[in-house]
Amino acid sequence: MTQSDIILKAENICKSFGTVEVLKGISLDARNHDVISILGSSGSGKSTFLRCLNFLETPTSGTVTIQGEEVLVRDGKPQNPRQIEKIRARLGMVFQQFNLWTHRTVLENVMEGPVQVKGVSKAEARDKADALLRRVGLQDRMEMYPSQLSGGQQQRVAIARALAMDPDVILFDEPTSALDPELVGDVLKVMQDLAAEGRTMIVVTHEMGFAREVSSEVVFLHEGRIAEQGPPDQMFNSPQTDVFKKFIATVK
Ligand SMILES: Nc1ncnc2c1ncn2[C@@H]1O[C@H](COP(=O)(O)OP(=O)(O)OP(=O)(O)O)[C@@H](O)[C@H]1O
Ligand SMILES: [Mg+2]
Repeated sequence: MTQSDIILKAENICKSFGTVEVLKGISLDARNHDVISILGSSGSGKSTFLRCLNFLETPTSGTVTIQGEEVLVRDGKPQNPRQIEKIRARLGMVFQQFNLWTHRTVLENVMEGPVQVKGVSKAEARDKADALLRRVGLQDRMEMYPSQLSGGQQQRVAIARALAMDPDVILFDEPTSALDPELVGDVLKVMQDLAAEGRTMIVVTHEMGFAREVSSEVVFLHEGRIAEQGPPDQMFNSPQTDVFKKFIATVK
């Protein structure tokens, strides 16, 4: 592997809220086709780390580099809002609570980004949204509003919306944890298909089956640091640290 295979590089990311240091120096590389699962107990900093990657939070220190371009920070703020807009278009994000636009139809939700941010024509955006919604199994829901859909369907809209931007990396923050158990499978299936087609993904999850079977790498966060990291076989079959051993014992 060379440097150029790295799509997203986080170096020594630290984040404090007031006097509380939540991230204490996290470095992570995502290469093309990587599926990285981030595990960790509640409060370990998983969401904060993900949000630092696309600057929903600005890291207190450390750097994020996307396709070789470092995101510039000055005085604790991103230096260039246009750069942030550009990197957000490259990093799709799927949230636990879907975050769809409630006053727009499913189709409009998926068309919005390409039209507003990328300047794609409405006709082209509509064709693409239509195709993506079919892919996630929502061909008969396109004209509905998010509130008329189940959580699992809403999350699949959110995934289609992320895909519509042709992101280099998709970030997922516990995409299935707000769902009723019977709806989790459809969403995981879509994510598994995305992994199989070579999408680069960083996934905060409590789904151990996904972490084990779908990811190429597992990262375990503990108190704002990476306590352990490696291929899933190694991580789950021979965990090294006491904290990770304890974690997998509680989630099994
Ligand atoms: N905006 C904020 N202001 C102050 N503290 C925050 C803020 N966001 C997060 N924190 C704190 O940072 C710590 C890590 O939070 P974070 O949401 O990253 O954890 P997490 O690993 O995603 O947990 P969970 O599994 O519950 O989602 C927590 O102690 C949280 O209270
Ligand atoms: Mg979280």
